[in-house]
Amino acid sequence: MKLSALAASSAVLFALAAPVAAEPQAEVLHWWTSGGEAKAVGVLQEEFSANGGTWTDMPVAGGGGDAAMTALRARVLSGNAPAAVQLKGPAIQEWYEEGVLADISSVAEAEGWADVLPASIAEHMKCEGHWCAAPVNVHRVDWIWANAEVLAANGIEMPTTWDEFNAAADKLKEAGVIPLAHGGQAWQDATVFEVVALGLLGPDGFKKAFVDLDADTLSSPEMVAVFDQMRKMRGYVDENFPGRDWNLATAMVMNGEAAFQIMGDWAKGEFLAAGKVPGEDFLCESAPGDGYLYNVDSFAMFEVDGDDKKAGQELLAKLIVGPNFQKVFNLNKGSIPVRTDVALDEFDSCAKKSSEDMAAASENGSLLPSYAHGMALRGAQAGAITDVVTAHFNSDMSSEDAVKMLAEAVANSM
Ligand code: BGC
Repeated sequence: MKLSALAASSAVLFALAAPVAAEPQAEVLHWWTSGGEAKAVGVLQEEFSANGGTWTDMPVAGGGGDAAMTALRARVLSGNAPAAVQLKGPAIQEWYEEGVLADISSVAEAEGWADVLPASIAEHMKCEGHWCAAPVNVHRVDWIWANAEVLAANGIEMPTTWDEFNAAADKLKEAGVIPLAHGGQAWQDATVFEVVALGLLGPDGFKKAFVDLDADTLSSPEMVAVFDQMRKMRGYVDENFPGRDWNLATAMVMNGEAAFQIMGDWAKGEFLAAGKVPGEDFLCESAPGDGYLYNVDSFAMFEVDGDDKKAGQELLAKLIVGPNFQKVFNLNKGSIPVRTDVALDEFDSCAKKSSEDMAAASENGSLLPSYAHGMALRGAQAGAITDVVTAHFNSDMSSEDAVKMLAEAVANSM
């Protein structure tokens, strides 16, 4: 046999013997459907495709992810879980305990996640010592957003106390401006409530109430004051608030119909997607009081069959924590990178403030998990609190009755 023919035939033999390389595939369930969110998730989709992956999109609209979680449960119960799911906080461990999450420790170890993630955040990504989720970002929840022109026109500064907030809101109402853009959905009520609670209870009180579920704090006079402030907030929203999506509330601030919104920094993603400039068109300030409420988005991989799907999960996990994605995604999303080694030069002043405040809060023990965004409590307890918050906001229930109901609901949920 000629040498060239020998080479050709051995090449054929080699090709037959070599394992077929898996083609990464992933069906991805997420709830990022607003303008800013869609731009951000598009970054992941593109990077996945550029690395040979095939992405099947499963968006489930609904801020805060309640609808997405209902869709997830249905898929898992029918034995057909999506490969990758936007999931966070203790829900990750709850799903792990159901025996349906994949172990992604091999990717985490190969990529050195332990060296580039803050220890407190890495903990959320672990299940019985294994890595079971990949973190995307750090969103801060306790922000107040404002329309710069509306504030200037009414001689109002960003409030630094809740009394100042109330004085500003009263003045705006008098001037015919809607003080607070809000959407009446349970998770948005809970978001405003936890921001008010952090401000009025302080970081220690917040932790006792919404992390430790301490009965005395839940039924304290300070908690009555939190509901009093919520009653004031109810007076600052417009009549059409029920059911409104959060991004439509952000749009009301953008177009000057409303002055303020209390929302996590995914709202900044909306302002930026609309070409608005922080410090010029809109203002960001941490809500009155100390502390920092964090909300870390992450993806968990569900047990799936087939090498292509497993390869897809591994590729996705690797890209999510990779430095390029961490930068580009978070520039669009309004959050900051979860990796400690990504430079913030290209980020705006709100993101820089978030990063500085997070470092300071971590130092002084006031870095706290958001209860409203599923970081602090398991589903049953968080749900019990939110039911009371929403029932109070949407009725004329007294603060005293709300606090009584709160303590009972939490006790019954345990
Ligand atoms: C998520 C954000 C999302 C927001 C609104 C939050 O719970 O962490 O990523 O943009 O809900 O849907």
